[in-house]
Amino acid sequence: MKNMTRVLLLALVMVLGFYSCKNQEETKADDSAIEIDRELVVSMEDTGIKIQPTMYGIFFEDINFAADGGLYAEMIKNRSFEFTLPKTGWVEPNSDRHSYNNESGFLSVIKYSDEGTNHNFARVVVKNDEGYVLINEGFRGMGVKEGAQYDFSVDAAKRSGDIQKIKLQVIDSLGNVLGETVVSPDSDSWKTYESTFKVSKTEMRARVKITFEGEGEIDLDMISLFPQDTWKGRKKGLRKDLVQLLDDMNPGFLRFPGGCIVEGRTLARRYQWKKTVGDIEDREILVNRWNTEFAHRPTPDYYQSFGLGFFEYFQLSEDMGAEPLPILGCGIACQFNTGELVPMDELDPYVQDALDLIEFANGDTDTPWGQVRADMGHPEPFNMKYIGIGNEQWGPAYIERYKVFQEAIKSKYPEIIIVSGSGPFPEGDYFEYGWEQLKQMNAEIVDEHYYKPPEWFRENADRYDSYDRNGPKVFAGEYAAQTVAIASPDNKNNWESALSEAAFMTGLERNAEVVHLTSYAPLMAHADGWQWTPDMIWFNNLESFGTPNYQVQKMYSTNPGTDLLRITENGDKIIGKDGLYATAVKDVNTNELIIKVVNTSGQNQNLSIQVEGGSITTNVSVLTMGMDDLEAENSFEDPLKISPNGGSATMERNILGVTIPAQAFSIYKVKI
Ligand code: AHR
Repeated sequence: MKNMTRVLLLALVMVLGFYSCKNQEETKADDSAIEIDRELVVSMEDTGIKIQPTMYGIFFEDINFAADGGLYAEMIKNRSFEFTLPKTGWVEPNSDRHSYNNESGFLSVIKYSDEGTNHNFARVVVKNDEGYVLINEGFRGMGVKEGAQYDFSVDAAKRSGDIQKIKLQVIDSLGNVLGETVVSPDSDSWKTYESTFKVSKTEMRARVKITFEGEGEIDLDMISLFPQDTWKGRKKGLRKDLVQLLDDMNPGFLRFPGGCIVEGRTLARRYQWKKTVGDIEDREILVNRWNTEFAHRPTPDYYQSFGLGFFEYFQLSEDMGAEPLPILGCGIACQFNTGELVPMDELDPYVQDALDLIEFANGDTDTPWGQVRADMGHPEPFNMKYIGIGNEQWGPAYIERYKVFQEAIKSKYPEIIIVSGSGPFPEGDYFEYGWEQLKQMNAEIVDEHYYKPPEWFRENADRYDSYDRNGPKVFAGEYAAQTVAIASPDNKNNWESALSEAAFMTGLERNAEVVHLTSYAPLMAHADGWQWTPDMIWFNNLESFGTPNYQVQKMYSTNPGTDLLRITENGDKIIGKDGLYATAVKDVNTNELIIKVVNTSGQNQNLSIQVEGGSITTNVSVLTMGMDDLEAENSFEDPLKISPNGGSATMERNILGVTIPAQAFSIYKVKI
């Protein structure tokens, strides 16, 4: 009561602009007296509980065109004619596909071998160089920017006649040329030709038009077009704006390559990391398992070129200072599809893949796989610490196989931490069975997935309070609030979902003793090519934006802290009473106290936060994100509609008096 009076008085004199919050002008704090509704207490006493540097990370899966058509900046779809229908993505507007008596020319795809990895090439017969045209449609078009430079490259071999030039033009929907370049083939052996050119106008759905000078026959493969302005300027690299959004999160880890894509719908179509490293033209293309998974969002032209392969994932992790966390298949195809099992006596190659991956990431350059890494330009090890075995497997078949991996990995690389899985659901028989078995096997980290309604997130902020402190640690590896139903096309990345996740995440942080890694899923979606929603980041061929869910993740991941502190109200944890959730940490690197508070209620809540047992300064920086409209979303037109706003407040004698608006998430930071 004494505190209450003191805070009421203090509230009269302090605080200018606790926060500023878009669309919440009416809830903005002013310097008039505020009514104190809640008294929270932060104890600076050491809890001995560390926030792991891996606490807030990124889950990447090639779903929704996240890799080809997304992060991987290649603009030509089916550049090496390897899709099941090998002309997919290519159009010959002046040719009759069904007639070889074509007057201008035609393209046929030659399969030269079942062996090897790059099986096909295109043979172009040009009969009339003014008439023959080849168009590539890109990934729902191609995004090009005014004044930007583009790199064209093509492998070609002249076969007969004399085709002297290959002209590549970027065209808009009306056929206007936005940029062009020419290469001059001069050899009857395979040779790579490269050229750079500038584009004169921005266009989101451009296409590429290829014409020829001269007549004859020419073979083409790896027809490629990249922007020069990629992430870190790497040639044939990653899309800069998308990586920037990830890097801005300061992620603790990068999990790759999924997700169900790890498992494949059948074992033959599982993700095999060895096929994704080495020269790009030798990476064997594979159909993407999400292509026709959902009848309501078919994308039959969805393949994996593996231009973004395991080397690039490791490199990206390194770029972002994130721990690489590869997840490998364990000999079980997706149990939502075929559930095909590799017999136990044929499991060795799968286990060997895991051992070889550790060598690829960490081995000396005189080891076979360390040498592959060095040949790709990275002689230094990637210092991988974690490996995941199985994505979302369940039942005895998983446990039986996991055991073999665990033994093999631990006996050769005892220092590697293995992530195991508890299946697709956060409760129920599969989950209970998985946890029980994994506990008995002394599993180190167990991956949990939850795709649940927003209210589940609000109601389960205490989920980990009862977890065994001495058992395996938790990787909350895939979670997202589903506003309609799991993977429903009507799910929205709205404020209600993000706010509910923010509330739930206070429980992740409060249980940092048990929860060591967390990530939202899925990560990215192409606005014209998605299969699954909700997703954290949306993009088209030119632009991208973070959803409110992204902003929540980013608020946590850029303010992770290093040591957990206790924050209570009347001695109790703050887990949802009247919609209030809170957690507190200190950061020994920045010497800060960081308090995160979420208010899911429809009322502003006036808080008195008292800090006990430590000395702190008076200037508090405040970051608040809130919105009256729970259905509000960010969009290409208004990408930061729901995003945090900064402000400040004053701490007087270790007491902070602030108002957290209705339906808001705030972070208060003060120097210790
Ligand atoms: O995130 C989308 C999918 O959800 C993942 O691939 C899978 O692990 C989960 O079922």
